[in-house]
Amino acid sequence: MPGYAVIGGQWGDEGKGKIVDFLSQDTQYVVRYSGGNNAGHTVINKLGQFALHLVPAGIFWPKVTCVIGNGVVVDPGVLLEEIATLEKAGVNTSRLLISDRAHLIMPYHVALDQLEERAKGSQAIGTTGKGVGPAYMDKVGRVGIRVGELLDVDNEEVFLPHLDHVLKQKNAIITKVYGGEPFSLAEIYQKCLEWGDLLRPYIQPTEMVLQEAIASGDNVLIEGAQGAMLDIDHGTYPYVTSSSPSIGGAYTGLGIPPQSIAGSLGVFKAYTTRVGGGPLVTELNDATGDKIRELAWEYGATTGRPRRVGWFDGVAARYSANLNGFTSIVLTRLDVLDGFPSVKVCVGYQLDGKVVDRIPSNVAILARCQPVYEEFEGWDQPTASATEMEKLPPNALKYVHRLEELIGVPIDLISTGPRREETIVNRPFIKR
Ligand code: IMP
Repeated sequence: MPGYAVIGGQWGDEGKGKIVDFLSQDTQYVVRYSGGNNAGHTVINKLGQFALHLVPAGIFWPKVTCVIGNGVVVDPGVLLEEIATLEKAGVNTSRLLISDRAHLIMPYHVALDQLEERAKGSQAIGTTGKGVGPAYMDKVGRVGIRVGELLDVDNEEVFLPHLDHVLKQKNAIITKVYGGEPFSLAEIYQKCLEWGDLLRPYIQPTEMVLQEAIASGDNVLIEGAQGAMLDIDHGTYPYVTSSSPSIGGAYTGLGIPPQSIAGSLGVFKAYTTRVGGGPLVTELNDATGDKIRELAWEYGATTGRPRRVGWFDGVAARYSANLNGFTSIVLTRLDVLDGFPSVKVCVGYQLDGKVVDRIPSNVAILARCQPVYEEFEGWDQPTASATEMEKLPPNALKYVHRLEELIGVPIDLISTGPRREETIVNRPFIKR
């Protein structure tokens, strides 16, 4: 197995961090290809509980090299803080590499993210406010500053004029359009000098490192961030993130060819959550939704916002599986549904008097869709901490099999709790 991708099948927060941590023991590289510190991956192990925002979740395994690929946008202050926290807990971060082609999230991106959201009023996307969208805008607009430029930061004839040019543009927007406070060139430049100093040992042309690793037969575990339904192209636009969390993003976001990824694991929660705005067909605005939120502590790992909660959406799940070509499914948080009298699964959408089984691309139309549910009897016996399929209550098994049918891909792993060992390996995780 050269490359294997772990991808969020829903709207993010599916529990990818735990799965990547679990699978990292058999790999030499764990790599991130999209998003920034809008992501929050929770990992619980012997060293404690960690909320990772940028560093790949493989960092806890001593033989794993972790790569932040070119498709990621990097807030250097956040990354340095994360490195410091890990080091303090006894984790060696010298095996972390950052692509010189990744773009920087600058302080003005964070300010613009927040100002733009505020100005949108009721149209706000509900971003994480971390500057991710504005940083990708600059990348596509070809005025972004890349991590590699920090290696040459003290070259006052190149770096400084670039920063000066960009900052003039940003300050004009911040002050004239939004009435905000301008940023000082000297202060930002000073920060860049410090970042350059501290990050220099980590910066490399990582696409070449990965191409060579794959050619020499090393295993590369590709860690997705967010989820396919937040994909800039294929998600519920405009209520999406500004990168490609689905499989396509992995090739461009790492600089590796298609044949290097042997398979992709889609991670799905046994129900649905989403943070921020946008339609959510199966949303539960009732006591059941509140119960799931509280039982599962569905609050954002990055922003602390309560997550919106709903039943499993089989229509969106099938769409996501087709988009990503998942070869295996990982089901997480099944234990949250333990003890519910019944559980529901959405098998179609009621739209203008007809039942459809495809997700519309237009969010205004999607917002009109009503869920068509199948209802399953619940289970009293716990699935929590189970490590064998045979230990699952029969009704939970029925539920799992129906999800498998709806997604159209085998469920190979089931996570039954936050710890590494709380995992059922239903079938060997291999290329099909
Ligand atoms: P942004 O990525 O901060 O621009 O936010 C855009 C949308 O994606 C918002 O609805 C966020 O709540 C959502 N989002 C971004 N990152 C995550 C994540 O890691 N988990 C869940 N939702 C996310």
